[in-house]
Amino acid sequence: MIYARITGTGGYLPEKILTNADLERMVETDDAWIRERTGIQQRHIVGENESTVDLAEIAARRAMEVAGVEGKDLDLIIVATTTPDLVFPSTACLLQHRLGANGCAAFDVQAVCTGFVYALGVAEKFIRAGGTKRALVIGAETLSRIVDWTDRTTCVLFGDGAGAVVLEASEEAGILSVHLHADGAHSDLLSVPCGVSKNRALCEQGGVFIQMKGNEVFKVAVNTLGRIVDETLEAAGLEKADIDWLVPHQANTRIIAATAKKLGLPMERVVLTVAKHGNTSAASVPLALDVAVRDGRIQRGDRLLLEAFGGGFTWGSALIRY
Ligand code: COA
Repeated sequence: MIYARITGTGGYLPEKILTNADLERMVETDDAWIRERTGIQQRHIVGENESTVDLAEIAARRAMEVAGVEGKDLDLIIVATTTPDLVFPSTACLLQHRLGANGCAAFDVQAVCTGFVYALGVAEKFIRAGGTKRALVIGAETLSRIVDWTDRTTCVLFGDGAGAVVLEASEEAGILSVHLHADGAHSDLLSVPCGVSKNRALCEQGGVFIQMKGNEVFKVAVNTLGRIVDETLEAAGLEKADIDWLVPHQANTRIIAATAKKLGLPMERVVLTVAKHGNTSAASVPLALDVAVRDGRIQRGDRLLLEAFGGGFTWGSALIRY
């Protein structure tokens, strides 16, 4: 049996930090409200000349260094992003050239905040099918570029960053199962309602950003993530007590706490980065994973449950023997 196993993780956050106190000077909000409703204290924001591929490259190099893998060794690169550098070439192609991985398959995946879990599921299937030995999977975002910095209901939530993993074919257990879902019925609850092929004029006026009915998204997210926990454990024949670490999408501590409760996991077994990173969309899960691997909390052999929920709606989970 061939498994896809994580052999290296990496992360990168841009230097500039925007605190809740900074936001108090930009919109009518306050630190106490943001902390209480979201758990967020600060977020990182890209510099003027930085873009998504710049963040992705640093995270990728860090993961590759740990895995002992060079660009020429890669068979596949998948970048999960909602904020690509260009319409095309894909961010994965731009990154591939920088890493000297020219020739391998490279493409982007767009599933908003669930993007990394989707990309992990796709890469895992490439590896299990044979032929692909080493894959680089990245979640990278510059969400600050699609945030309306005058809208207090959204601008306090998001941040920029990138996280990466190297996956390699292995006889040792690694990714045990991935569960992916989407439901396009409620696309109006969370969207950026313009693009290349629709409402383009609005885009060109520069006036269209993330729009969200936060309260409604919150309720759907809590219910959906509760269901996916059951689905994942049942598929693997595991009990709640078999999970060592929850590595959730970092949107809001209250949503994360509800999922941990469903799992019966104390918050000490949940990797929380939302306070320092904010919601970095597709980057949030691999960034959190990298933090907990590097600080020694996550050890080889631990069972991890990764989960995410985002625009689309999309949602998914991955059960991993690290
Ligand atoms: N500062 C201060 N007050 C704010 C505020 C801010 N930044 N943003 C909104 N408010 C106000 C609202 O205007 C509202 O005031 P009103 O009652 O006078 O109308 C009040 O706070 C409550 O707003 P509400 O939207 O009901 O708050 P909430 O408890 O639902 O928290 C979110 C808002 C966005 C934090 C929460 O809904 C959430 O986290 N939703 C999910 C978001 C998410 O995860 N999105 C991404 C999915 S990947």
